[in-house]
Amino acid sequence: HHILCIVGARPNFMKIAPIMAAFAARGDQVKATLLHTGQHYDVAMNHQYFEALGIPSPDINLEIGSGSHAVQTAAVMQHFEPALDAAQASAVLVVGDVNSTLACALVATKKGIPVIHVEAGLRSYDRAMPEEINRILTDQISDILFTTEASALGNLTREGIDASRVRFVGNVMIDTLRLNLPRAIALPQILADQGRSDFRHDAGYAVLTLHRPSNVDDPAVLRSLLETVRQISERLPVVFPLHPRTRGMIEKFGLSELIDLPQILLLPPMGYLEMLGLMKNARLVLTDSGGIQEETTALGVPCVTLRNNTERPITVEQGTNTIAGQDPATILRLFDEVMNSGGKAGRVPEFWDGHAADRIAEQLCEWLDQRNAASGD
Ligand code: UD1
Repeated sequence: HHILCIVGARPNFMKIAPIMAAFAARGDQVKATLLHTGQHYDVAMNHQYFEALGIPSPDINLEIGSGSHAVQTAAVMQHFEPALDAAQASAVLVVGDVNSTLACALVATKKGIPVIHVEAGLRSYDRAMPEEINRILTDQISDILFTTEASALGNLTREGIDASRVRFVGNVMIDTLRLNLPRAIALPQILADQGRSDFRHDAGYAVLTLHRPSNVDDPAVLRSLLETVRQISERLPVVFPLHPRTRGMIEKFGLSELIDLPQILLLPPMGYLEMLGLMKNARLVLTDSGGIQEETTALGVPCVTLRNNTERPITVEQGTNTIAGQDPATILRLFDEVMNSGGKAGRVPEFWDGHAADRIAEQLCEWLDQRNAASGD
């Protein structure tokens, strides 16, 4: 079997790493080719992840870059088609919910090539979120849907997807987390690397990440969130790695002075091992990322999610996550709870055990074998 594996943006990389490794471990049974669409292209958003996670260099890079949703999605589709024709793959495997995920799934399915979606069935039920559209559409056209949590099956069957296509295998991102935890790079090392050993964090620190358009593209919302962060930083220092989109918006709206403070450490986008080290030792994490809600649950670190909903409800039901939204009073109240009582305790969900990618490789090979047998190959 020849599987063409797709990545495009930063949150895809830690998901594809264990899948590529699990395919490689199956020797001649399966050949995996890696295609990068180039949706993310900055060194900080890319190479540090490939290197740190030992992901093989992409066999193909479409070098798409940034653009509006329509331009970006269309560019991926247009450049992916000839690459797919040339690859002669038996299946295309996509992960997550970025524009590249949907674009490649759509091209493949129209050519009659089976689409495998890893991290299927997550739903925020918020269609203003571009990723929600990508999730719904990708799942509709996928042949095999690998899920990370039990809620996904109900979401998918409600949308008319047959349960026989759905396989609950667990969370590949947590495979990567468990494998790399011993190599995590902690704050003192990061401070030394960045020449910022002056940053004081004797009583601990919070980690903040922000990049969702709903939080950073509107000046009033971004101002209010940063003002809340400033208040938090008066009680607990804040480490804030800046996504390129967020850095751009802060500059554009002239909000830099709100966070240009000695107790807020502004950093460039961190590598995977650095993010892991930062989160692991944090007193709490404030974020609007999807993946970080899961990683903090796996690490047992309290997470305050700066969104009104989550597509990953298990992190709230079983994990350390709380949905705060954008309201300053709510965010500050949840922050107080963490400071006073250590925050929400949680447990690690089923199948977030470091072996999700093995289950995917095994089940996928079986499925492709059966398919070949049925077609007489
Ligand atoms: C994308 C994903 C989002 C994911 C996020 C993680 C979609 C719809 N969104 O959002 O789900 O959580 O990645 O980072 O696919 N930019 C750079 N360098 C880069 C990439 C982007 O400077 O390497 C800047 C550009 O100004 C660009 C902007 O960031 O216009 C947005 O990039 P884009 O890939 O469109 O979306 P993200 O916000 O990164």
